[in-house]
Amino acid sequence: MNEFTLQTPTQEAGLATAMEVVYQWNYDAEVEELRNLYVKAAEAQWIGGRDIEWERPIDLLKFSTTPLGAGIPMEKTSYWRSLPQDTVVELTRRTAAFRLSQFLHGEQGALMVAAQLVNAVPHTDAKFYAATQTMDEARHVEVFARYIEKLDEIRPIAPSLKGILDQTLETGDWMKKLVGMQIVVEGLALYAFREMRNLTAEPLLKDILTYVARDESRHHAYGVQYIERCVPCLGERERAELEDFALECARSLIDRNAQGFFTTLLGIWQEVGVDPVAMFNSLHNERDEITRDLPRGRRLGPVQGFVIPTLRRCGLLSERVAAHFHEFLRDNFGSRVAGDNVQEFLQYLPELPADTAKWVLGELQ
Ligand SMILES: [Fe+2]
Ligand SMILES: [Fe+2]
Repeated sequence: MNEFTLQTPTQEAGLATAMEVVYQWNYDAEVEELRNLYVKAAEAQWIGGRDIEWERPIDLLKFSTTPLGAGIPMEKTSYWRSLPQDTVVELTRRTAAFRLSQFLHGEQGALMVAAQLVNAVPHTDAKFYAATQTMDEARHVEVFARYIEKLDEIRPIAPSLKGILDQTLETGDWMKKLVGMQIVVEGLALYAFREMRNLTAEPLLKDILTYVARDESRHHAYGVQYIERCVPCLGERERAELEDFALECARSLIDRNAQGFFTTLLGIWQEVGVDPVAMFNSLHNERDEITRDLPRGRRLGPVQGFVIPTLRRCGLLSERVAAHFHEFLRDNFGSRVAGDNVQEFLQYLPELPADTAKWVLGELQ
């Protein structure tokens, strides 16, 4: 154990934030669904060190079934299939460690935003709920860090993720914090956890993601239930500002040109002896064949498949912002995914699942 010091070598310089703290003198339940969610969260608490069997070794061959989260399943390309098994195992281990590290750092951001919400939201039920979420996020940080250290090593945060966490922490507007964290960041995370949990054959990771995803589905529900009550109280300008904030958050998180993500992944490929040019050529030449079996020729990613439907449900998808979303998704993923025009884009947006917790655990399509 290192000696205890006030300044630690791994901490960052402090980030100044604009948050105001709000007292509330009415302690009665006011927003019943938030009070219920708070009770549900209290009942569902678990303990990372006790409820998960950490002694199980990670079988790397099983682990290599873990999806890598690229827009297109790279593992279906002929180049990937021609790689020696050792390379595939190593590539999956390191790429997944990078991806899980982003989850981990995102969880730290969520921990701090949830704690801010306790202070900043004006309704007692919303403060209570944010308190349970703060506890959940501490546990998520704990279990992801422990798992990554068992698997490989913790990799640094990608600049695009750091930027969005900073913005969400810095803003003085608690509704922006809710939209940035509960709707965009946690919406994307929920989608990714679901995919990873349902496809990986590695039992320890599956267990961790099951526990975490259950908590996350409540966090998302908190955002939806609270924000959909708030939006009708807003003026036109305030609502447009919230919509723009959501758009910016989503854009910086998934933009293909976002700095950091891609270069890091290429670096990892090279570390294990994968030739990026050969991989891309294979992807390029076989793209149509690989995506042909996907439903309606479309593979809706997390933004189109989950975050935007959430915004629509909350009353934060005006025609104006829908056009911006369509444009940026079409630029990134092409019109086969995003649709040729806004009408088509809106037409293909799915409804939110009736029960997010069941959906995330693969019990609902
Ligand atoms: Fe979390
Ligand atoms: Fe969360």
